[in-house]
Order: sequence, then C-alpha cells, then structure tokens
Amino acid sequence: MKNWTEIYRPKKLEDIRGQDLALAHVKKFLKEFPKKKALLLNGPPGVGKTTLVQVIANSMEAEIFEINASDFRNKDSLNERLKPALEQASLVHKSKIILVDEVDGISAVDRGGLTEIVKLIELSNFPIIATANNAWARKLAPLRKAMQTIDLKSIEDSIAKTLILEILAKENKKLKPELLDKIVKSARGDMRAIINDVQSVSLLGENEDVEMNERNKETDIFHILKQVFQEKADESMLSLFDKTDMPLEEIALWIEDNIPLVYQREELAKAYERLSRADIFKGRIYKQQYWRFMVYQNILMSYGIAQAKNYNKAGFFKYKKPDRVLKIWLSNQKNEKKKSISEKYSNKVHVGTKRIMQDFKIILPILKNPTVQKELRLDEEEIAYLSRN
Ligand SMILES: Nc1ncnc2c1ncn2[C@@H]1O[C@H](COP(=O)(O)OP(=O)(O)OP(=O)(O)O)[C@@H](O)[C@H]1O
Ligand SMILES: [Mg+2]
Repeated sequence: MKNWTEIYRPKKLEDIRGQDLALAHVKKFLKEFPKKKALLLNGPPGVGKTTLVQVIANSMEAEIFEINASDFRNKDSLNERLKPALEQASLVHKSKIILVDEVDGISAVDRGGLTEIVKLIELSNFPIIATANNAWARKLAPLRKAMQTIDLKSIEDSIAKTLILEILAKENKKLKPELLDKIVKSARGDMRAIINDVQSVSLLGENEDVEMNERNKETDIFHILKQVFQEKADESMLSLFDKTDMPLEEIALWIEDNIPLVYQREELAKAYERLSRADIFKGRIYKQQYWRFMVYQNILMSYGIAQAKNYNKAGFFKYKKPDRVLKIWLSNQKNEKKKSISEKYSNKVHVGTKRIMQDFKIILPILKNPTVQKELRLDEEEIAYLSRN
C-alpha cells in the first residue's frame, strides 16, 4: 500500500495548488539571482514548501543539493562536502539549487551551524533556498537577516477539497461529504494531513462518521477490549484509546492475544488483517518519525477491529493478559530507552552508540548525574529508566 501523498505528489508546476504567490516569488528570485542569494520559505507543515522547491528545480532541469542539520555538526564536513558543492557547477544538470530543508529542525547542538550557513550564503555560486515552519523562532534570527523570507499560506479548504475529490475519483473511492468536511476542517490547511487522513479513512470501506480526538475519563484495558470486541463499531471508538495511559503497542498485544477468544472464522481473518495494517503504520511512524500516522494505527486498531465482527457479542468473555509477549515487549521498551540515551550521549562524546551500549554499566554513574542529564536533554522516561538501573 503506497501513500497517496507519494502517488499524488506534484510533478509539474500546475500541480501545486493554492501557492501561486509564493511560486511567483521563487521564480523571480531564481531569475534575478544573484541579486539576492538566499530565500527562506516559511509556512506551516504540509503546504508544499519542499515540494515547491523540488518541482521548480525539475522544471529548470536543475540539480538539488540538499544540506541537512547533520552537515553542520562538524567543520570538516562543512568544508569538505559543502564548499565544493557551493562552488562547482553541476556535472550533469543545467544548474543547481541548494536546499536547506527544515532549518528550524536544527537542534541546539548544531546551532553554530546556522551562523555557518550565513557564511556559506556569501560563498555560494548558486541560489540557496531554505524552508522553515517558524521563521520567527529566535534561533533563526541570523538566517532571517541573510535571507529574504517568503510566507506560504495554509491551503484553503475549498482548494483542499477539490484536490481530494480528484484523488478519490482516480482511486475510485468515495467519501461522505460531511466526513470530508470534518477532515479538512480539523487539518487546518495541512494538505499532507488531509490526504493522509482521507486515505486512512477510505481504507475502512464504508466510512462511518469519524471523530478523532476526545479525551474522556480513564477506562481500563478490559473495558477497552469489551468495547472493541463485543460492541458495534461506531465513531466513539476512535477516541477509545485516548482514555487510557497504556501505550498503543501494549494495547496491540492485548488485542492480538484476545482476538481468538471472541472472533471466529472470517471475523478473525479480517481482524488480524487490520491489526497487521496497523503494524505497517507503526513501522512508518518509526522510520519517518511521522507521528501523525499514529492516528491511522489507532483507527485500524479500534474502529477497524470492532468493525471486523459480523454481529455484536453479548455475554462474558474472560480476557487474558498477554503474558509472554508482554514481557518481551516490556524488555524491548527498556532497551529502547537504553538506546535513546546512548544515542544522545554518543552525539556529545563522539563515540559510537554501539560502544556506549556495550559499556553502559560503566558509564551509568556519569549518566545518573543530573547535570549530565540536563546537558543531554534526557526526557522524563529516560531519567526514570536510569534511576531504576
Ligand atoms: N500546495 C500543494 N498542492 C498539492 N499538494 C500538496 C500541496 N502541499 C502539500 N501537498 C501534498 O502534501 C505532501 C507534502 O508536502 P510538502 O512535503 O511539500 O510539505 P511541506 O510544506 O514541505 O511540509 P513540512 O513543513 O512538514 O516539511 C505532498 O507530497 C503533496 O502530496
Ligand atoms: Mg518540507
């Protein structure tokens, strides 16, 4: 299953919706280069900033040379990798655009890199285009001075809807107009979110009403299982997991182990299929660090599983705790913390994460030092993990 955002990513300038003004600015900037040397595209997520640069480069047969946060980590990489790229013409393309995508993602550690980019701007023989979600963040002040800022607006609802209807027609899928309204409204002009939400909802077949976030009082896992497995699927299920503090992965284990207790034959097959789709999204969350996918994982596991049953199931089922798997999962969780702490430490001391994990016991006393924890920006869970060991 491919993401619609990939399939329908704009390829030509005309495919980019609702950003005519920004597009005109970028074109002008490139035409007049080197009058101004760098441009900062500022705007909320999912409105086409990265896409715009890619499409425009494509239309000019220009190469895109991308600079990331990690390039600023050391001076050597700056000098060895970047400088030549900024000075020398592209070997195969007509021209070149330097893209510094998501500059506000640059972490505190790399902040020195921002002043470094400013120096590079002077040096560069090619136009530099950076993107940011919040150009007004304080840390970006040095960049703002050196670059012309262009604001991209969030996508208007009517424009978003038109695009969605075109996509649905191509996919041969339908969506209730009220549901489309709801999705568009809640995404607030984030085109990527709208496309992703529409895709995930249309996965469920006949799309019922969807209400996404609503935090109510705590419900324990047995209550959750009872609802998912025994009651009719309805929109309230989409906020079911919000009512517990249990992580989604752990809920998945409970669901997986208890499905056979209640479901039979084709219900079982359907339920497992949805669970495995939820797992695909989980993989994507980790790989792409795209937390919005959690919504789909959630929808598939709650509404999706509930809807897999043929009829509502009255009666009492003795749901069981997924013992063995749960233990494995918990120990993996522990390892996750060890790994994330090691990664942070590794970035500071320039020793590989693997080595640090091997010597974890030896470094432990250092890591328990609150000053060190602060310096490494450990989160609460990581600190809690250290205090348990
Ligand atoms: N203006 C647009 N017209 C058509 N599709 C769009 C537009 N903006 C975003 N999309 C869709 O959303 C996807 C993501 O867009 P893009 O990566 O360009 O967003 P972005 O503004 O760079 O977001 P971020 O700030 O998160 O990096 C695209 O692949 C495309 O499918
Ligand atoms: Mg982007």
